[in-house]
Amino acid sequence: MLKGRSLIEPGNFTIEEMDALFSLAERIEEDPAYLRESCRGRLLATLFFEPSTRTRLSFEAAMQRLGGSCLGFADPGSSSASKGESLADTIRMAASYADAIVMRNPKEGAALLASRYSPVPVINAGDGGHHHPTQTLTDLLTIKRLRGKPGDKSLRDSVKGLTVGFCGDLKFGRTVHSLAKALARYEGVKLVFVSPPELRAPEYVTRLLQREKIEYLETTSLEDAMPGLDVLYMTRVQRERFFNEEDYIRLKDTYVLSLEKMETAKKELIVLHPLPRVNEIAIEVDADPRAAYFKQAKYGMYVRMALLASIMGVI
Ligand code: CP
Repeated sequence: MLKGRSLIEPGNFTIEEMDALFSLAERIEEDPAYLRESCRGRLLATLFFEPSTRTRLSFEAAMQRLGGSCLGFADPGSSSASKGESLADTIRMAASYADAIVMRNPKEGAALLASRYSPVPVINAGDGGHHHPTQTLTDLLTIKRLRGKPGDKSLRDSVKGLTVGFCGDLKFGRTVHSLAKALARYEGVKLVFVSPPELRAPEYVTRLLQREKIEYLETTSLEDAMPGLDVLYMTRVQRERFFNEEDYIRLKDTYVLSLEKMETAKKELIVLHPLPRVNEIAIEVDADPRAAYFKQAKYGMYVRMALLASIMGVI
């Protein structure tokens, strides 16, 4: 039962709870009218202290498609945070107006802190370079839908035997940390981390993989990794997390996925990207049937509908 629960990082929900969310999201995708009025009279607060397109809009679309309403801000400069109000007080206020809070904040740990002050569920929509668990739900649903086999009973069946490559900024990319952590719970998955040495995945991620006995390798070469991958998860170099612009400029175009590189990949590969894309996937790749990042963004809305209906307790 997810009623009343917060989601701060992927480990907050069990594998079975995540499977239930994926089934519900698939049901909603099949029949968009299902649960249409289920959140009538409910309010969702969306508090975005950092820019967002997909996460905020898909949460707001999800809530409205369930019959509920949204309030909040997309620019902290327009909130009393700009006058020095603490996060704890902002959260207490939002919780007194809304039935659940979705928050993005540049500080690692902000969502956990918010959940400690909030009497209503808090959903982490990204805390600095730490976690982004609803992107992980989106990513896993996409993998299940596009790489699952008929007859798979759960995500465990769908991911067994897959080699998942992560490419780009693995140091600051919170979506990478969350997805790698989530995949570490599934036996038979292999991970390949492709990054420049300066942007390697944090040690807490690789240590977790070692503890869980998940096979992984680290490389700087996308060309070498490409032929062995079943899923390629491209990421943007996170300019906003760099301490100096020179380093960003030096590293930003280390990897560009081109049609030429796609020629060396498996026919069944799927290319994912949490988006926004800057320059790391050539526009020409969009027409390749293996490019799944726009579908992925749409699955994000279905899984967020499933999540909201579940934590609001209307299902
Ligand atoms: N994937 C993602 O978090 O996108 P936004 O930054 O646009 O919300």
